[in-house]
Amino acid sequence: MIDFDEVLDNRNCHFQKWEEVADRYGVPGDTGIPMWIADMDFRAPPAVNAALQKMVDHGVHGYYGPDDSFREALVGWMARRHDWAVQPEWALQTHGLGNALSVIINSCSAPDEAVIVFSPVYHSFMRIIKANDRRVHAAPLRVEDGRFHMDIAALEASLTGDEKILFLCSPHNPGGRIWSAEELREVADVCRRRDIIPVSDEVHHDLIMPGHSHSILAKVAPEISDRLITLVATSKTFNIAGIETGTMLIENEHLRRRIAKVRGAMNISNNRFGMLMAEAAYRDGDDWLDALIPYLDRNRQLLNAAIAAIPGLSVMNLEATYLGWVDFSGTGMGREDVISRLTAVGLAPSEGRTFGDEGELCMRFNIACRHALLEEAMGRLADAFSDLQ
Ligand SMILES: Cc1ncc(COP(=O)(O)O)c(C=O)c1O
Repeated sequence: MIDFDEVLDNRNCHFQKWEEVADRYGVPGDTGIPMWIADMDFRAPPAVNAALQKMVDHGVHGYYGPDDSFREALVGWMARRHDWAVQPEWALQTHGLGNALSVIINSCSAPDEAVIVFSPVYHSFMRIIKANDRRVHAAPLRVEDGRFHMDIAALEASLTGDEKILFLCSPHNPGGRIWSAEELREVADVCRRRDIIPVSDEVHHDLIMPGHSHSILAKVAPEISDRLITLVATSKTFNIAGIETGTMLIENEHLRRRIAKVRGAMNISNNRFGMLMAEAAYRDGDDWLDALIPYLDRNRQLLNAAIAAIPGLSVMNLEATYLGWVDFSGTGMGREDVISRLTAVGLAPSEGRTFGDEGELCMRFNIACRHALLEEAMGRLADAFSDLQ
C-alpha cells in the first residue's frame, strides 16, 4: 500500500530542497514551503528501498561489478512502458544527466562553439554549457494558447554554423509540455540538415499525466539514429535523484565510442548504490509509478484551480511532470515585488529568469508534495495576492 499522504519530516536529512531554502530564498526552513528543486517529498518505491536494505544488511560496499542485470532491467522498462526496443549495448552510465550533458559537450564540440536550447528551459542546461566554455544559442519558445511552441524556421534562420549540439528537454521543463511527433520530427530534420547532434533529455518521460502520451524522439525520427543521444534515468521518475545516476542511450556505435572515450577520460564509473537502486526501480517500480501519476494529477488540478482564482496569474496546464510554470505578468508587478510577496508567506518556488530571459515574470512551482501541503501553499499564495481579488 503506497501512502503519498504520509507526513514525513524531511528536514535535517541533508536535502538541498529543505536545507538550502533559507539561504537561497530567505524562507525559514521550519515554516517555509520549498517548491523549488525538482525532487518529490515521497518515499521511493518499496522495491528500491528493499534493494538498498539488502546492501545495508550485507554491509560490504565495494566497487560495483558487471552491469548486465541493470541493462536487462532498463531494456525491459523501455519495452514495457514505452514500446521502445532499446539494445543493451546502447547504454552508457553517467553520474546523473547533468554529468552526461558535460560529457556530450566535450565529445561533440570545441570551446567557443555553440549548443542550442529552447528557452526558457531547465536552468542547468545553460550553466553546464557555459561552464564548459561553449556558447548558449537560445531559441525562444513562443507561448500560444497557454502552451510553449517552438519556432523551427526562426531557429534555422538564426544558425551560423557554430552550433554543434542541440539540447531538447522532452517533455519540457518547465511547464510540462509534451512535444508532438510532428514537432519532434521538425527538430530531427533541422539537426540532420545542419549536422547538429540532438540530445533528447527525456528524464521526465515517465511522468505523463492521464490523457496524454509522450513520443520518444528515437522512435518518431529513426532517420536520425546515426546522431541521436537520448538521456533517461530513474531519478525523477522514482524520486531517487540522490543516486546521481543516469543513462545515455546511443545507437550509433561510432558516436557511442567517441562519447565513451571522453567518459573514460573523466574516469566516470558506475556507482554501486545508484546502479542497484535504479535496477530495482526499472524492474519493480511499475505499481508505485502507476499510483503516483493520479496523485500528481490531483495536484495539477489543485494548482490550476488555485491559480485560476487569483487575478493576474496564469499557469500552463501540466501535460507531464510536476513543475508548474506560473506567469505573474498579469499582476502588473515587477519581479522583486512578486518575490517579496512570496517570501513573506514562506513560499520558495524556482525563479523564472534562471530558465531564460523569457521567464522574468514567471515562477516554477514544484507540486510533488502531499495534497495537504499543496493546499496550504496555494492558500498562502492567495493570501499573498489577496489585494488583487
Ligand atoms: C531536464 C532535466 N535534465 C536533467 C536534470 C538533472 O538530472 P541529474 O540530477 O541526473 O543530473 C533535471 C533535473 O531537474 C532536468 O529537469
